[in-house]
Amino acid sequence: MTVSKFSFKKYQPLCLRLWHWSNFVVILALLATVLIRKTFLSWRINSVLIEEKLGAAGIQITPGLAKEIAVAIRNPLWEWHIYLGYILSALLLARVLIALFIERQFPSVSAIKSALGIKRIPIQERGEALHFAFVKIGYAVFYIVTMLMVVTGILMTFKTEIGLSSDFGGTIKSIHEFMMWFFVVFIAGHIIGIVIAENCKDQGIISDMIHGGKSED
Ligand code: HEM
Ligand code: HEM
Repeated sequence: MTVSKFSFKKYQPLCLRLWHWSNFVVILALLATVLIRKTFLSWRINSVLIEEKLGAAGIQITPGLAKEIAVAIRNPLWEWHIYLGYILSALLLARVLIALFIERQFPSVSAIKSALGIKRIPIQERGEALHFAFVKIGYAVFYIVTMLMVVTGILMTFKTEIGLSSDFGGTIKSIHEFMMWFFVVFIAGHIIGIVIAENCKDQGIISDMIHGGKSED
């Protein structure tokens, strides 16, 4: 069987597989910290609960103190967000090193270039070439957005040490918070895409990400 040059199946080196699954766990854990912060550990919900429960026991406290207690309960979770953020930063650096020293090319760049040389591609292969380029551009955007999350996250973590103004700090936080939605969309699209590929023309693509697949000699 001939493999199309726009197939996604390729040998996945061990370091890239380890990187992929570590990245998967860390990003899901980061999203989980956000979900818990916004639900079970939301200071808005919990401060009202604290005020109500203490009020019922005959202890009156101010809304400000109730908020302080709710935030104090939430803080350890947010320390985890930051530790996971450091791990994500290290993984991003590791991905750059894998690209430089193992793959010897930046992810997606050569694939995008060859697929976009569309005029040189036979007409019957152009749809496949565009789809290939689209997916690879998606990965490139993923790396750029991850870099943005790491930079904005680290700026927020060290805002006091750096002396960020509260205006600029607010803008950075809004960018960081909004960009979270990129990951939600990327993960959903990626998993659907991979499952379709596995069931259509790239059978074995998922297990290749586990055992590596056929080595390119
Ligand atoms: C948090 C969830 C995930 C993230 C952030 C993620 C991210 C990525 C990225 C960035 C790549 C491109 C790697 C590169 O060549 O530079 C990739 C490739 C891949 N991922 Fe994921 N992934 C996730 C979940 C999954 C899951 C659940 C599966 C399996 C069901 C999977 C299977 C694959 C496969 C087979 C490839 C290689 C396909 C290709 O080169 O187009 N991923 N993933
Ligand atoms: C996929 C990656 C990430 C996602 C999806 C994510 C998501 C979020 C979200 C949604 C918020 C706003 C929470 C709120 O105010 O309700 C936030 C805040 C924050 N994130 Fe991240 N983040 C990621 C990576 C990072 C990284 C790499 C770091 C740094 C090491 C980091 C550090 C922070 C800090 C310091 C805050 C501010 C918390 C506060 O002001 O209370 N994040 N993150």
